[in-house]
Amino acid sequence: MKKFFKRSIAVLACTSLFVGVLTGCSIKDLSSLNEKRIIRISHTQSEKHPINVAMLAFEEYIEERLGDKYDVQVFPNALLGDVQKSIELTQTGAIDFVVASTANLETFSDVYEIYSMPYLFNSVEAYHAAMNNRDYMENIYKSTEDAGFEVLTWYESGSRNMYCKEPINTPDDLKGKKIRVQQSPASIAMCQALGAAASPMSFGEVYTAIQQGVIDGAENNEMALTDNKHGEVIKYYSYDMHQMIPDMLVANLKFINGLDENERKIFEEAALYSTDVQLEEWDKQVAEAKEIAQNEMGVTFIYPDKALFMEKVAPLQEEMLANNPAITDIYDYIQGVNAQFEGGEN
Ligand code: GCU
Repeated sequence: MKKFFKRSIAVLACTSLFVGVLTGCSIKDLSSLNEKRIIRISHTQSEKHPINVAMLAFEEYIEERLGDKYDVQVFPNALLGDVQKSIELTQTGAIDFVVASTANLETFSDVYEIYSMPYLFNSVEAYHAAMNNRDYMENIYKSTEDAGFEVLTWYESGSRNMYCKEPINTPDDLKGKKIRVQQSPASIAMCQALGAAASPMSFGEVYTAIQQGVIDGAENNEMALTDNKHGEVIKYYSYDMHQMIPDMLVANLKFINGLDENERKIFEEAALYSTDVQLEEWDKQVAEAKEIAQNEMGVTFIYPDKALFMEKVAPLQEEMLANNPAITDIYDYIQGVNAQFEGGEN
Protein backbone atom coordinates (compact mmCIF):
# COMPACT_ATOMS: atom_id res chain seq x y z
CA MET A 1 0.00 0.00 0.00
CA LYS A 2 2.76 2.33 1.10
CA LYS A 3 4.76 1.38 -1.98
CA PHE A 4 1.79 2.05 -4.22
CA PHE A 5 1.28 5.43 -2.59
CA LYS A 6 4.95 6.38 -3.10
CA ARG A 7 4.86 5.28 -6.72
CA SER A 8 1.69 7.27 -7.36
CA ILE A 9 3.29 10.39 -5.93
CA ALA A 10 6.35 9.84 -8.15
CA VAL A 11 4.17 9.39 -11.25
CA LEU A 12 2.18 12.48 -10.32
CA ALA A 13 5.36 14.48 -9.87
CA CYS A 14 6.74 13.37 -13.24
CA THR A 15 3.46 14.07 -15.00
CA SER A 16 3.08 17.54 -13.56
CA LEU A 17 6.71 18.30 -14.36
CA PHE A 18 6.17 17.26 -17.96
CA VAL A 19 2.89 19.14 -18.21
CA GLY A 20 4.56 22.08 -16.48
CA VAL A 21 7.24 22.28 -19.14
CA LEU A 22 4.69 21.96 -21.91
CA THR A 23 2.15 24.42 -20.58
CA GLY A 24 4.44 26.94 -19.00
CA CYS A 25 3.22 26.35 -15.42
CA SER A 26 5.69 27.68 -12.91
CA ILE A 27 8.06 25.00 -11.73
CA LYS A 28 7.98 26.75 -8.35
CA ASP A 29 4.55 25.12 -7.93
CA LEU A 30 6.39 21.85 -7.47
CA SER A 31 8.59 23.11 -4.67
CA SER A 32 6.66 21.02 -2.16
CA LEU A 33 7.85 17.88 -3.95
CA ASN A 34 11.41 18.98 -4.50
CA GLU A 35 13.09 21.38 -2.16
CA LYS A 36 15.53 22.62 -4.74
CA ARG A 37 14.39 24.95 -7.47
CA ILE A 38 15.21 23.25 -10.77
CA ILE A 39 16.70 25.54 -13.41
CA ARG A 40 16.33 24.30 -16.95
CA ILE A 41 18.64 25.40 -19.77
CA SER A 42 17.87 24.46 -23.37
CA HIS A 43 20.25 24.54 -26.32
CA THR A 44 20.48 22.84 -29.68
CA GLN A 45 24.14 21.83 -29.77
CA SER A 46 25.64 18.43 -28.90
CA GLU A 47 27.08 17.38 -25.52
CA LYS A 48 30.62 17.89 -26.87
CA HIS A 49 30.03 21.36 -28.35
CA PRO A 50 31.63 24.44 -26.70
CA ILE A 51 28.13 25.70 -25.81
CA ASN A 52 27.44 22.60 -23.75
CA VAL A 53 30.87 22.82 -22.10
CA ALA A 54 30.03 26.45 -21.22
CA MET A 55 26.62 25.51 -19.84
CA LEU A 56 28.15 22.84 -17.62
CA ALA A 57 30.59 25.49 -16.33
CA PHE A 58 27.61 27.77 -15.64
CA GLU A 59 25.88 24.93 -13.78
CA GLU A 60 28.96 24.14 -11.72
CA TYR A 61 29.59 27.78 -10.80
CA ILE A 62 26.05 28.21 -9.52
CA GLU A 63 25.75 24.87 -7.77
CA GLU A 64 29.08 25.35 -5.97
CA ARG A 65 27.73 28.55 -4.44
CA LEU A 66 23.97 28.08 -4.32
CA GLY A 67 23.67 24.32 -4.62
CA ASP A 68 21.47 23.95 -1.55
CA LYS A 69 18.82 26.02 -3.30
CA TYR A 70 19.22 25.44 -7.04
CA ASP A 71 19.59 22.37 -9.21
CA VAL A 72 20.75 23.49 -12.68
CA GLN A 73 19.88 21.07 -15.49
CA VAL A 74 21.28 21.42 -18.99
CA PHE A 75 19.30 19.99 -21.94
CA PRO A 76 21.45 19.78 -25.12
CA ASN A 77 20.54 18.46 -28.60
CA ALA A 78 17.25 20.42 -28.80
CA LEU A 79 15.76 17.95 -26.30
CA LEU A 80 13.31 20.62 -25.15
CA GLY A 81 12.59 21.75 -28.71
CA ASP A 82 14.34 23.74 -31.42
CA VAL A 83 15.58 27.21 -30.68
CA GLN A 84 12.33 29.02 -31.58
CA LYS A 85 10.33 26.69 -29.34
CA SER A 86 12.87 27.03 -26.53
CA ILE A 87 12.70 30.82 -26.72
CA GLU A 88 8.92 30.59 -26.31
CA LEU A 89 9.35 28.29 -23.30
CA THR A 90 11.80 30.80 -21.80
CA GLN A 91 9.39 33.65 -22.41
CA THR A 92 6.62 31.94 -20.49
CA GLY A 93 8.90 30.70 -17.71
CA ALA A 94 8.31 27.02 -18.50
CA ILE A 95 12.12 26.88 -18.68
CA ASP A 96 14.60 29.44 -17.40
CA PHE A 97 17.37 29.78 -19.99
CA VAL A 98 18.03 29.15 -23.66
CA VAL A 99 21.12 29.68 -25.78
CA ALA A 100 20.00 31.37 -28.99
CA SER A 101 21.64 33.06 -31.93
CA THR A 102 21.04 36.81 -32.20
CA ALA A 103 19.43 35.96 -35.55
CA ASN A 104 16.63 34.32 -33.56
CA LEU A 105 16.18 37.42 -31.42
CA GLU A 106 15.64 39.86 -34.32
CA THR A 107 11.89 39.41 -34.24
CA PHE A 108 11.80 40.40 -30.56
CA SER A 109 14.04 43.47 -30.72
CA ASP A 110 15.10 45.32 -33.88
CA VAL A 111 18.55 46.09 -32.55
CA TYR A 112 19.61 42.44 -32.88
CA GLU A 113 19.44 42.79 -36.66
CA ILE A 114 22.83 44.51 -36.48
CA TYR A 115 24.64 41.17 -36.04
CA SER A 116 23.21 39.83 -39.28
CA MET A 117 24.70 42.74 -41.20
CA PRO A 118 27.35 41.21 -43.46
CA TYR A 119 30.96 42.24 -42.81
CA LEU A 120 30.01 44.26 -39.74
CA PHE A 121 33.22 43.49 -37.86
CA ASN A 122 36.60 44.04 -39.50
CA SER A 123 38.45 41.57 -37.31
CA VAL A 124 37.96 38.92 -34.64
CA GLU A 125 39.74 41.27 -32.20
CA ALA A 126 37.22 44.06 -32.85
CA TYR A 127 34.35 41.57 -32.57
CA HIS A 128 35.50 40.30 -29.18
CA ALA A 129 36.29 43.78 -27.86
CA ALA A 130 32.84 45.05 -28.84
CA MET A 131 31.06 42.03 -27.36
CA ASN A 132 33.09 42.18 -24.14
CA ASN A 133 32.08 45.78 -23.48
CA ARG A 134 29.32 45.02 -21.00
CA ASP A 135 28.57 48.66 -20.31
CA TYR A 136 27.62 49.15 -23.92
CA MET A 137 25.88 45.79 -24.33
CA GLU A 138 23.73 46.18 -21.22
CA ASN A 139 21.04 48.23 -23.01
CA ILE A 140 20.89 45.77 -25.84
CA TYR A 141 20.63 42.84 -23.46
CA LYS A 142 17.67 44.52 -21.79
CA SER A 143 15.94 45.45 -25.04
CA THR A 144 13.78 42.30 -24.95
CA GLU A 145 12.27 42.93 -21.51
CA ASP A 146 8.82 43.45 -23.03
CA ALA A 147 9.07 39.99 -24.55
CA GLY A 148 9.70 38.50 -21.09
CA PHE A 149 13.42 37.77 -21.34
CA GLU A 150 16.85 39.36 -21.23
CA VAL A 151 20.35 38.35 -22.24
CA LEU A 152 23.07 37.65 -19.67
CA THR A 153 26.11 37.06 -21.84
CA TRP A 154 27.36 36.20 -25.32
CA TYR A 155 29.20 33.23 -26.83
CA GLU A 156 31.47 32.88 -29.84
CA SER A 157 30.03 31.23 -32.91
CA GLY A 158 32.89 31.98 -35.29
CA SER A 159 32.54 33.35 -38.77
CA ARG A 160 29.81 32.12 -41.08
CA ASN A 161 30.94 30.83 -44.47
CA MET A 162 29.27 29.27 -47.49
CA TYR A 163 29.50 25.52 -47.95
CA CYS A 164 28.16 23.73 -50.95
CA LYS A 165 28.17 20.55 -52.95
CA GLU A 166 30.19 22.45 -55.56
CA PRO A 167 33.10 24.84 -54.97
CA ILE A 168 32.24 28.52 -54.37
CA ASN A 169 35.14 30.68 -55.54
CA THR A 170 33.23 33.85 -56.44
CA PRO A 171 29.68 35.13 -55.84
CA ASP A 172 28.92 34.03 -59.42
CA ASP A 173 29.22 30.43 -58.26
CA LEU A 174 26.28 31.04 -55.92
CA LYS A 175 23.94 31.92 -58.77
CA GLY A 176 20.93 29.63 -58.86
CA LYS A 177 22.05 27.78 -55.72
CA LYS A 178 19.60 27.18 -52.88
CA ILE A 179 21.32 27.98 -49.61
CA ARG A 180 19.93 27.41 -46.14
CA VAL A 181 20.10 30.51 -43.94
CA GLN A 182 18.98 31.21 -40.39
CA GLN A 183 15.35 32.22 -39.93
CA SER A 184 16.08 35.96 -39.99
CA PRO A 185 14.99 38.54 -42.57
CA ALA A 186 18.48 40.09 -42.66
CA SER A 187 20.13 36.74 -43.37
CA ILE A 188 17.66 36.05 -46.16
CA ALA A 189 18.45 39.46 -47.69
CA MET A 190 22.19 38.79 -47.36
CA CYS A 191 21.95 35.48 -49.17
CA GLN A 192 19.92 37.05 -51.96
CA ALA A 193 22.37 39.96 -52.26
CA LEU A 194 25.12 37.40 -52.77
CA GLY A 195 23.13 35.98 -55.67
CA ALA A 196 21.77 32.75 -54.16
CA ALA A 197 18.22 31.68 -53.37
CA ALA A 198 17.73 31.79 -49.59
CA SER A 199 16.07 28.85 -47.93
CA PRO A 200 15.41 29.61 -44.25
CA MET A 201 14.86 26.59 -42.00
CA SER A 202 15.78 25.49 -38.50
CA PHE A 203 19.31 24.21 -37.90
CA GLY A 204 18.22 20.66 -37.16
CA GLU A 205 16.66 20.25 -40.59
CA VAL A 206 19.76 21.17 -42.61
CA TYR A 207 21.51 17.79 -42.84
CA THR A 208 18.51 16.00 -44.32
CA ALA A 209 17.69 18.93 -46.61
CA ILE A 210 21.20 18.75 -48.13
CA GLN A 211 21.14 14.97 -48.30
CA GLN A 212 17.78 14.95 -50.07
CA GLY A 213 18.81 17.70 -52.48
CA VAL A 214 16.23 20.20 -51.17
CA ILE A 215 19.10 22.69 -50.84
CA ASP A 216 22.55 22.91 -52.48
CA GLY A 217 24.34 24.14 -49.41
CA ALA A 218 24.28 26.20 -46.27
CA GLU A 219 26.40 28.70 -44.39
CA ASN A 220 27.80 28.32 -40.91
CA ASN A 221 30.97 27.95 -38.86
CA GLU A 222 33.27 24.92 -39.20
CA MET A 223 31.67 23.09 -36.26
CA ALA A 224 28.61 22.42 -38.44
CA LEU A 225 30.77 20.20 -40.67
CA THR A 226 31.78 17.86 -37.87
CA ASP A 227 29.47 18.30 -34.90
CA ASN A 228 26.37 18.35 -37.11
CA LYS A 229 27.99 16.07 -39.69
CA HIS A 230 27.30 18.40 -42.64
CA GLY A 231 30.79 17.49 -43.90
CA GLU A 232 29.37 14.06 -44.78
CA VAL A 233 27.07 15.57 -47.40
CA ILE A 234 29.01 18.71 -48.45
CA LYS A 235 32.60 18.72 -49.66
CA TYR A 236 33.49 22.41 -50.27
CA TYR A 237 33.73 25.04 -47.55
CA SER A 238 34.46 28.57 -48.73
CA TYR A 239 35.86 31.25 -46.40
CA ASP A 240 33.93 34.28 -47.63
CA MET A 241 33.41 35.19 -43.94
CA HIS A 242 30.16 37.04 -44.52
CA GLN A 243 28.98 37.26 -40.91
CA MET A 244 30.07 36.84 -37.29
CA ILE A 245 26.86 36.15 -35.37
CA PRO A 246 27.12 35.55 -31.63
CA ASP A 247 25.03 33.21 -29.52
CA MET A 248 23.34 34.62 -26.43
CA LEU A 249 22.42 33.25 -23.01
CA VAL A 250 18.77 34.26 -22.72
CA ALA A 251 17.08 34.29 -19.30
CA ASN A 252 13.43 34.39 -18.30
CA LEU A 253 12.91 37.89 -16.95
CA LYS A 254 10.74 37.00 -13.96
CA PHE A 255 13.23 34.41 -12.79
CA ILE A 256 16.26 36.65 -13.08
CA ASN A 257 14.48 39.63 -11.53
CA GLY A 258 13.23 37.44 -8.70
CA LEU A 259 16.75 36.65 -7.50
CA ASP A 260 18.05 38.49 -4.45
CA GLU A 261 21.08 40.73 -4.84
CA ASN A 262 23.64 38.11 -3.88
CA GLU A 263 22.08 35.43 -6.09
CA ARG A 264 21.85 37.80 -9.02
CA LYS A 265 25.55 38.59 -8.62
CA ILE A 266 26.40 34.88 -8.64
CA PHE A 267 24.29 34.23 -11.76
CA GLU A 268 26.01 37.11 -13.53
CA GLU A 269 29.45 35.91 -12.50
CA ALA A 270 28.50 32.41 -13.66
CA ALA A 271 27.46 33.83 -17.04
CA LEU A 272 30.76 35.68 -17.48
CA TYR A 273 32.72 32.64 -16.40
CA SER A 274 30.83 30.47 -18.90
CA THR A 275 31.80 32.89 -21.69
CA ASP A 276 35.51 32.62 -20.77
CA VAL A 277 35.25 28.83 -20.77
CA GLN A 278 33.39 28.84 -24.08
CA LEU A 279 35.88 31.13 -25.86
CA GLU A 280 38.78 28.90 -24.90
CA GLU A 281 36.93 25.75 -25.88
CA TRP A 282 35.83 27.34 -29.14
CA ASP A 283 39.36 27.89 -30.48
CA LYS A 284 40.36 24.37 -29.55
CA GLN A 285 37.31 22.69 -31.07
CA VAL A 286 37.31 24.73 -34.29
CA ALA A 287 40.95 23.78 -34.93
CA GLU A 288 40.00 20.11 -34.38
CA ALA A 289 36.90 20.45 -36.59
CA LYS A 290 38.96 21.79 -39.50
CA GLU A 291 41.42 18.97 -39.13
CA ILE A 292 38.72 16.30 -39.04
CA ALA A 293 36.69 17.84 -41.87
CA GLN A 294 39.73 18.00 -44.13
CA ASN A 295 41.50 14.77 -43.27
CA GLU A 296 38.69 12.43 -42.32
CA MET A 297 35.64 13.77 -44.13
CA GLY A 298 37.35 14.92 -47.33
CA VAL A 299 36.13 18.53 -47.17
CA THR A 300 38.13 21.03 -49.25
CA PHE A 301 38.64 24.48 -47.70
CA ILE A 302 38.59 27.34 -50.20
CA TYR A 303 39.96 30.83 -49.53
CA PRO A 304 38.19 33.09 -52.06
CA ASP A 305 38.72 36.82 -52.60
CA LYS A 306 36.51 38.23 -49.83
CA ALA A 307 36.33 41.63 -51.54
CA LEU A 308 34.13 40.16 -54.31
CA PHE A 309 31.55 39.11 -51.74
CA MET A 310 31.81 42.39 -49.80
CA GLU A 311 31.06 44.38 -52.96
CA LYS A 312 27.83 42.47 -53.48
CA VAL A 313 26.43 43.21 -50.03
CA ALA A 314 27.54 46.86 -49.67
CA PRO A 315 24.11 48.18 -50.82
CA LEU A 316 22.43 45.90 -48.28
CA GLN A 317 24.40 47.49 -45.43
CA GLU A 318 23.16 50.92 -46.56
CA GLU A 319 19.62 49.62 -46.86
CA MET A 320 19.64 48.09 -43.38
CA LEU A 321 20.86 51.35 -41.85
CA ALA A 322 18.24 53.35 -43.71
CA ASN A 323 15.38 51.02 -42.75
CA ASN A 324 16.17 50.27 -39.13
CA PRO A 325 16.97 53.26 -36.86
CA ALA A 326 17.43 50.87 -33.90
CA ILE A 327 20.80 49.76 -35.28
CA THR A 328 22.35 53.20 -35.94
CA ASP A 329 23.94 53.66 -32.54
CA ILE A 330 25.45 50.19 -32.30
CA TYR A 331 26.63 50.40 -35.91
CA ASP A 332 28.55 53.61 -35.13
CA TYR A 333 29.87 52.10 -31.92
CA ILE A 334 31.18 49.03 -33.77
CA GLN A 335 32.78 51.17 -36.47
CA GLY A 336 34.67 52.93 -33.66
CA VAL A 337 35.85 49.60 -32.28
CA ASN A 338 36.82 48.45 -35.78
CA ALA A 339 38.98 51.59 -36.16
CA GLN A 340 40.81 50.81 -32.91
CA PHE A 341 41.90 47.48 -34.36
CA GLU A 342 42.75 48.77 -37.83
CA GLY A 343 45.07 46.43 -39.65
CA GLY A 344 43.81 43.41 -37.71
CA GLU A 345 42.38 41.49 -40.68
CA ASN A 346 40.52 38.25 -39.96
C1 GCU B 1 25.35 28.14 -35.19
C2 GCU B 1 24.92 28.93 -33.99
C3 GCU B 1 23.53 28.52 -33.55
C4 GCU B 1 22.58 28.63 -34.71
C5 GCU B 1 23.07 27.84 -35.89
C6 GCU B 1 22.17 28.03 -37.11
O1 GCU B 1 25.50 26.81 -34.83
O2 GCU B 1 25.85 28.76 -32.95
O3 GCU B 1 23.08 29.32 -32.51
O4 GCU B 1 21.31 28.20 -34.36
O5 GCU B 1 24.37 28.25 -36.22
O6 GCU B 1 22.69 28.26 -38.20
O7 GCU B 1 20.96 27.97 -36.96
